[in-house]
Amino acid sequence: MQIGLEGIAFDIPEHFIDMRELAGARGVDPAKYLQGLGQLEMAVASPCEDSVVLAAGAGRRLFANFDVDPSSISLLIVGTETGIDHSLSIASYLHLMLGLSDDCRIFEIKQACYGAMAGVAMGINYLLSGKALGKKVLVVATDIARYGQGSSGEATQGAGAVALLLSHQPRLVEWEARIDGYYARHVMDFWRPLDAQEACVEGHYSIDCYLAALEGAYRHYKANGVRAGLMEVKEDVQKRCVACLYHVPYVKMAQKAHIKLLELEAGCAFEKESPVFAAAREDFCRRTLPFLELNSRVGNVYTASLFLSLLNFLEIATQEAVGKELSLFSYGSGCGAEFVRARVSVGATKWMQKDSFRTRLAARRLIGIGRYEEMATACRGRDKEEGRVYLPEKWNLTRSELYLGVKGRKRVYAIDGKILE
Ligand code: HMG
Repeated sequence: MQIGLEGIAFDIPEHFIDMRELAGARGVDPAKYLQGLGQLEMAVASPCEDSVVLAAGAGRRLFANFDVDPSSISLLIVGTETGIDHSLSIASYLHLMLGLSDDCRIFEIKQACYGAMAGVAMGINYLLSGKALGKKVLVVATDIARYGQGSSGEATQGAGAVALLLSHQPRLVEWEARIDGYYARHVMDFWRPLDAQEACVEGHYSIDCYLAALEGAYRHYKANGVRAGLMEVKEDVQKRCVACLYHVPYVKMAQKAHIKLLELEAGCAFEKESPVFAAAREDFCRRTLPFLELNSRVGNVYTASLFLSLLNFLEIATQEAVGKELSLFSYGSGCGAEFVRARVSVGATKWMQKDSFRTRLAARRLIGIGRYEEMATACRGRDKEEGRVYLPEKWNLTRSELYLGVKGRKRVYAIDGKILE
């Protein structure tokens, strides 16, 4: 039974900053952000762009580009760690904004950056169960990554959303639904207390936790493959993959992950500066780096970041990729992780370049560090100011989906100039 990705679309804020300018403002050598972290630009969400708005933007674009009938969706899952309410989910707002039907199951998943991958796994299992009866699954990953101004995490912020349509017509990517690998352990590497808008993080420890989770999920994947009789004990999991995609808090982290995976396959650690380490870096430049342009220009989009890289891959992949495998690793702090494989479908070539991400990036507006700080301050106070309307003109926005503020303790949104009740 074929199951997988039928459509994909993304949304990002309308403004961004240049990492060179941020480095200048913080008195940091720009090479640290550009080469050390691998980040070139960073998306900046304005007060009218919250995680609901970005999710709605991605969902609406998906429906338009892939000609999706809203009534064909019977399961909507939102993955996010940028929740807007302790009870009400983003899925509930999206259900209204996307015009989904009453008999659609909806919910939100929080598991740090792993939430959307968990949603995809649930969606795939639902389709496999036979209960979908011809209907489809919509998974939306949406997040705004915020750390303190001047903190070491500041350079790894970002914002955006990716919408994924899963179905029995996997025009883009066919999921390998028979094997997957997981890892979980309670670690305090990254968290956001209930009263905080910005994340707390043990940065260097979080890198170790990410790599430990990659190893655990990879080993579990392999053990499951062998147990299911689908893999040989000595088989390389990644050798045949045309692209190896990872959770991308920043580009350099994906490089660390790729080298770690090659070490696991080789059964030994590579000495830095050794020829085998250099070869592993070259392999990263061939099988991962080309698909990180969006990530390097948007920043960390938490649970959406792996799928941003998948979208980047699908848009620039050539005919040669068709029929070949991909590996995907999702990491969520705290921590939960998953390793899976998928296969590029024939239909992918027809879609390539349809909604070119470079056109979208080019349409954004560059702002200076002062304006970025002004937006961040306004976002911090936004949800507490009862009755105040945040006007899109003040933030120079042209988008159709907007968050306008809080009235009667309810969030107010507008779409295409119409206020939603
Ligand atoms: P830091 O301590 O400011 O930076 O924080 P550093 O000193 O470690 O330098 C970073 C890199 O730049 C290093 O490269 C330096 O050598 C290099 P590496 O050794 O790692 O290869 N560097 C330079 N390169 C060229 N020229 C220079 C220069 N100076 C230094 N002049 C850190 C970095 C990532 C820790 C910080 O930004 C942070 O805390 N970020 C947030 C946490 C994070 O992103 N963790 C990643 C793993 S956990 C994860 O992915 C989950 C997450 O997405 C959340 C979730 O799941 O919900 C975060």
